[in-house]
Amino acid sequence: MTLKIVRNILDLRRETASWRAQGLVSAVVPTMGALHRGHLTLVQEGLKRADRVVTTIFVNPKQFGPQEDLGRYPRTEAADVAQLEEAGAHLVFAPQPNEVYPPGFATSIVMAGPAKAGLEDKFRPHFFDGVATVVAKLFTQSEAQFAMFGEKDYQQLLVVRRMARDLDLPIEVIGVPTVREESGLALSSRNAYLSKAEHHQAASLHRILTQAAVKIKAGQKPTRATAAARRALTTRGFRVDYVAARNAETLALPREADEPMRLLAAVWLGTTRLIDNIAV
Ligand code: PAJ
Repeated sequence: MTLKIVRNILDLRRETASWRAQGLVSAVVPTMGALHRGHLTLVQEGLKRADRVVTTIFVNPKQFGPQEDLGRYPRTEAADVAQLEEAGAHLVFAPQPNEVYPPGFATSIVMAGPAKAGLEDKFRPHFFDGVATVVAKLFTQSEAQFAMFGEKDYQQLLVVRRMARDLDLPIEVIGVPTVREESGLALSSRNAYLSKAEHHQAASLHRILTQAAVKIKAGQKPTRATAAARRALTTRGFRVDYVAARNAETLALPREADEPMRLLAAVWLGTTRLIDNIAV
């Protein structure tokens, strides 16, 4: 069976309404395409919870700043669809920008809380309002009961979960652990921008975060461990946007040594921006 692709909201609703009429549970996996094993793991996790999985492929212009990589973001739809079929997804929703944001579109979801933690939001001020707006639309369009998100984008996961709760959207947001290369490098569509040498170098991001986590677990002050991580990253040729230890649930600054913590970092390697995070 070839995997069905729908390009407008009406066709998407028609498909998902027929699933609901049959009593089937569905999960949505929002993506921007250029799919890799990380995305496919979200599909597989979705299949564990739901009878039907719809994957969305949409490079959302609202979450890119004017100087960012919207124009050069990789677009590989045919390969994406082939991989999704192999992974067992049931439907692909791949709309054009005009379908999502028709002329006259005037609504935006503006968030505080985890969306204003001084991490990604500090360096990409448009990002989370753009993400929250498109994800809220995808949730209402798909009417799925579950939504699968990667821990790779940890702040995004918390933002989307908060948004769904705040807007009373009847969907459960599930976080899925980060899929990595053997080197430790987190899989990312943006890794395609890296040269061979940069790709090799990129693996030390995860190594340095892991070392900092070990030190914090052994009782070192988070600020001291993250300052050392920043120095190590700079020495290795990264330009550091941030490396921070935060409360794993709220992203607030940690207060107690025994609270659940997450280490989060964003760095540049040449013209490529990489993010990663790990549990402490
Ligand atoms: P995108 O970067 O394509 O990621 C889609 C989903 O895949 C996100 O939930 C992301 O966290 C997850 N993901 C990416 N790399 C992963 C990895 N190595 N392991 C596990 N999961 C991984 O994130 C977006 O798109 C967009 O902001 C979107 C939510 C689609 C809204 O436009």
